[in-house]
Parts: sequence; C-alpha cells; structure tokens
Amino acid sequence: MDFKNNIRVIEDFPQPGISFKDITTLLKDGEAYRAAIDELKALVSHLNIDVIAGPEARGFVVGAPLAYALGVGFVPIRKSGKLPYETIEVGYDLEYGKDTLAVHTDAIKPGQNVLIADDLLATGGTIATSVSLVEQLGGKVVGAAFLIELVQLAGRNKLSDIEVVSLLTYE
Ligand code: PRP
Repeated sequence: MDFKNNIRVIEDFPQPGISFKDITTLLKDGEAYRAAIDELKALVSHLNIDVIAGPEARGFVVGAPLAYALGVGFVPIRKSGKLPYETIEVGYDLEYGKDTLAVHTDAIKPGQNVLIADDLLATGGTIATSVSLVEQLGGKVVGAAFLIELVQLAGRNKLSDIEVVSLLTYE
C-alpha cells in the first residue's frame, strides 16, 4: 500500500522551512492505520523482540499497536516530569528545539531485546536518546521502526549499529 497518500504535508509548520509530515490523516483512516501497523510488523518479524519502547507522543500511536500486534509489552518513553515512579533522564537536541526524555528505572529488565518505535525519523536525536535510555537500563536495542524517514536529515547515521526500518521515505 502506498501510504504517502495518507500523509498530509504542511509547509512551514511549526516554523518557516519545516515541511511537516502530518500522520493524523493516516491515523483517522482505520484501514490505512491497520495496514501500516501490519506492514511494520512484517518488517520487524525476523527480530527477536521482548518489548517495544516508544517516545511520547507520536511514538505511542505506532509503538503501542505494534506491541499489541506482536504480543509484547510496551514501554512509554516520556518527556521529563510525566512519569510517576523513579526515572532516568537524558537531554537531547530536536530538529527544532531541545527536550529531555525519561523512562522508569524498572521498565526494562537487563538483557531484554527492545524494539524502539516512532512515527518519524528526522535528525535521529529522539531515537538516539531513546537508545541511550534503554541501554542504561541494560536492554539491548535490536531495531528501530518508523512510519516515515526524512532521508536528508540522515538520522539513520546516528543508529549505525541498529537495524532501521521505515514504511515511507521523503527526501
Ligand atoms: C517528533 C517525532 C519524533 C521526533 C523526530 O516528536 O514524533 O519523535 O520528533 O525528530 P528527530 O529524529 O529529529 O529527533 P516531537 O519531539 O515533536 O514530539 P511529539 O511526538 O510529542 O509531538
């Protein structure tokens, strides 16, 4: 299925020069949303996955249904100050701006194989930070799965030791 028809591109959002890939048009189409998750599932089915971790907020709408489809657990990686239990945190640079991500210290057991899932790979900062959090807990990141990859921003290069799969690419 060509999911590009389901992605709405908004120029100059949230600031001039950014060509925003809006996945809400995919999410509201039940057939396309399910097909996209099923295709991602097929792309990662050869990996030995114990648990999926996904960064807030759009990582949840990819990672959680993928975890359900694979029959594995889901670990939310959240912006700082949102998780109620003991956390570890890592700061990072975004394509535009800065942020801090956090995960519960007991979210992943040492030795667990973790797939990280998100809607979009841009600079790779979010996913590299997610990898760092998972590895600090002793997890092994076996792959990273995205709906969309912005190829020119070369986020994949920040994930050189990890298998990266994406449904759609944009130059
Ligand atoms: C967006 C997107 C990815 C990340 C990609 O999230 O959902 O998580 O940026 O960019 P990067 O590869 O350059 O790090 P954002 O931080 O805007 O948060 P949101 O999902 O809560 O809107």
